[in-house]
Amino acid sequence: MSKIAVLGHGVVGSGTVELFLKNRENINKRNGIDLELGYVLDIRDFEGLSYSDKFTKDINDILNDPEVTVVAEVMGGVNPAFDFVKSCLEKGKSVATSNKELVAKKGAELLKVAKEHNCNFMFEASTGGAIPIIRPMHKCLAGNEITAVAGILNGTTNFILTKMIEENMAFDDALSMAQKLGYAEKDPTADIEGHDACRKICILSSLAYGRHVYPDWVHCEGITKLTLEDVAYAQNWGGEIKLIGSVKKCDDGKILPMVRPAFVCSGNQLSHVDDVFNAIMVYGDGFDQAMFYGRGAGKLPTASAVLGDIIDCAKLTETSKSQYWEDSADDSFIMNYLDDQVQMYVRVDNVSDADINAEFGQVEYLDRDNKPANEKAFITSKLSEREIQTKLEKFGKNVLAFIRVLDF
Ligand code: HSE
Repeated sequence: MSKIAVLGHGVVGSGTVELFLKNRENINKRNGIDLELGYVLDIRDFEGLSYSDKFTKDINDILNDPEVTVVAEVMGGVNPAFDFVKSCLEKGKSVATSNKELVAKKGAELLKVAKEHNCNFMFEASTGGAIPIIRPMHKCLAGNEITAVAGILNGTTNFILTKMIEENMAFDDALSMAQKLGYAEKDPTADIEGHDACRKICILSSLAYGRHVYPDWVHCEGITKLTLEDVAYAQNWGGEIKLIGSVKKCDDGKILPMVRPAFVCSGNQLSHVDDVFNAIMVYGDGFDQAMFYGRGAGKLPTASAVLGDIIDCAKLTETSKSQYWEDSADDSFIMNYLDDQVQMYVRVDNVSDADINAEFGQVEYLDRDNKPANEKAFITSKLSEREIQTKLEKFGKNVLAFIRVLDF
């Protein structure tokens, strides 16, 4: 018999315990293991639960119990999660986490500690919620060169955008609904400013290219500046605006990870991913493309991925060699997003066709219902983002919006 410990009894922590206790008998039988709930760590008291006797406020109870072999870290944040996880790994206890901030900021270090102590640090739940993406990338697709990854990686913002587009719901109302449903981060700034998606694309980039990509190195824009006007123009163009986290391998061998809202054409399946659902397109030289789709946030969907890792950790007798990446000393392998060639959607006010053509040559003009006479929206031809921004500076305050067009 081995015990599991769950660090944190919030939305995901309570879901992990609930799903484990519900399915424990089958889990043990199907996997040839014998797991039971040992501890739940939380500073709060939880009375009246069938497992209230398992709560502790002291991490040492877990660290010093040799029967605890797998720990689920579902507290979120870096402190004290990092110290707790590192201490567990140093004791040879494997850790399964849903904590994308921890993996994005400390992943290389924790993977190294796990390797040194012959245990595992797993994080399937950190990216895409319930969607299997970490394992497919380092196992099923391991024989390929990954050329690009592009995904809707944040359920809260996708939920908000869907409500704005389909129900004309105000941004704040959609955000509070997402919070009530348990999708949003404790501080929703991380969702709406793109930081959560940024952490997730850092994890996928590190996994795909074998070197740690830190969030500070990634260009990141959220959805707070999007307007219903831009949404209408995207639909007139033949697509939707989505918050996209992506990484691609560039010709010079560098990689370009970034997070930003993008015009996604209706021919791309990502444009049809709505509500809290996430989807990740992975592109590679052998398999061409594969799409991974499912619930990207929420109590039991995230718990499902944590539990999958707990079971894997319980079955593995050594450190997984493929789920690994090295630390990076600097960001010299990351391309500056301003040098990337893109098409851009632009919305301007009081700028003449002649001035637009003088800067951009031929453009594709877009329309929308109730378009004011002085407003123009268009899609540029492919130029570097730096060139586009330089040209837009000439229009000064008359530039109302500019949004990249997703090209893969
Ligand atoms: N706040 C995150 C989201 C939770 O909305 O996707 C899952 O990582």
